[in-house]
Amino acid sequence: MSILLSGGAGYIGSHTAVALLQAGQDVVIADNFCNSSPKVLDRIEAITGKRPALIDADLCDREAADAIFRSHTITGVVHFAGLKAVGESVQKPLLYYRNNLDSALTLLEVMQAHGCRQFVFSSSATVYGDQPAPLHEDSPTGGCSNPYGWTKFMIEQILLSACAADPALSVVLLRYFNPVGAHESGLIGENPNGIPNNLMPYITQVAVGRREKLTIFGNDYPTPDGTGVRDYIHVVDLANGHLAALNYCAAHTGCEIFNLGTGHGVSVLEMVETFESVNHVAVPHVIGPRRAGDLATVYASAEKAERMLGWKAEKTLADMCRDSWNWQSKNPNGY
Ligand code: NAD
Ligand code: WQD
Repeated sequence: MSILLSGGAGYIGSHTAVALLQAGQDVVIADNFCNSSPKVLDRIEAITGKRPALIDADLCDREAADAIFRSHTITGVVHFAGLKAVGESVQKPLLYYRNNLDSALTLLEVMQAHGCRQFVFSSSATVYGDQPAPLHEDSPTGGCSNPYGWTKFMIEQILLSACAADPALSVVLLRYFNPVGAHESGLIGENPNGIPNNLMPYITQVAVGRREKLTIFGNDYPTPDGTGVRDYIHVVDLANGHLAALNYCAAHTGCEIFNLGTGHGVSVLEMVETFESVNHVAVPHVIGPRRAGDLATVYASAEKAERMLGWKAEKTLADMCRDSWNWQSKNPNGY
């Protein structure tokens, strides 16, 4: 009896694989490695002493997805697989809609055919659009500013409809805020292709000398220091949230939505200053113009997950900065 992690070779999936293996669960990873490396399996094994089963498969391929369920007894699925680069989704919307919607639909159909009914979905705070913080699970959604965000919104709607039609289904939608950090071993971490879109990998690549300087996108927002405020969450805390969600799925039916965040906002400047002071390394930076589509302030209400899942983020901003740097400095060029 195994948990299937679609996209489990990626950043969040690999940390979740470690958490599940350490909790004594059997894990099957299915990934097509379009944004990850099979080397992550060696690293997961080095950390846990266990090697998850690996299936090289595109989850949009119905036959390949079906074969996973024929060869393993899958009791629950965590669906990480998807494309996630916001800017690329604006350039290549059809690729994003095809890959993200098709992989979710294909997995759900195959699960139905095999009587597997527990599904945890990697959604995103981006579904809240520009609603005011703190964001609650019942805050209005939609109004996404890019196709990536719409894929998350649409898959949430698909899952709500599927649960309405089948009372035996058990679905948890996890809306992640801003995942950062890495496993404390420094063996697994975030490994973006090309120029990083996100703040933390950009900071670590500047600190390690791969990029000259960080550009802070605007210092004229209505925030305490003028730079954007986000709810950064350590990826190991986030991974543990998936364990809690799977336990919840096993005990409940229907569709439940949880934010996974800390409930606290941190500004870009605060992040840069904390990174520099914790790691004793310089992050040269300049102020540039705002980035199109960015919001001033985004942070979660984290109360529902604590109340209903018994989960809350434990790690500090200093932990996030230290562990991101530990990963980057041990693996300056990724895997
Ligand atoms: P990631 O790119 O590191 O991991 C996604 C994995 O899915 C990759 O290994 C990729 O190769 C795989 N994949 C993509 N399409 C596939 C397909 N059709 N078939 C098989 N494998 C496929 O990304 P991540 O940061 O680990 O994110 C995991 C999930 O969480 C994604 O769905 C992402 O949208 C969501 N999410 C991420 C963030 C974030 O900031 N990292 C925030 C909110 C939500
Ligand atoms: C954080 C802050 C930037 C880079 C994105 C997606 C979202 C979710 C998480 C998947 C902002 C500032 C950044 C840089 C900067 N992903 N920044 N210089 O935009 O909150 O969220 O990732 O679901 O959908 O939109 O994260 O890390 O890009 O930015 O000043 O080089 O850092 O303006 O204030 P964001 P981010």
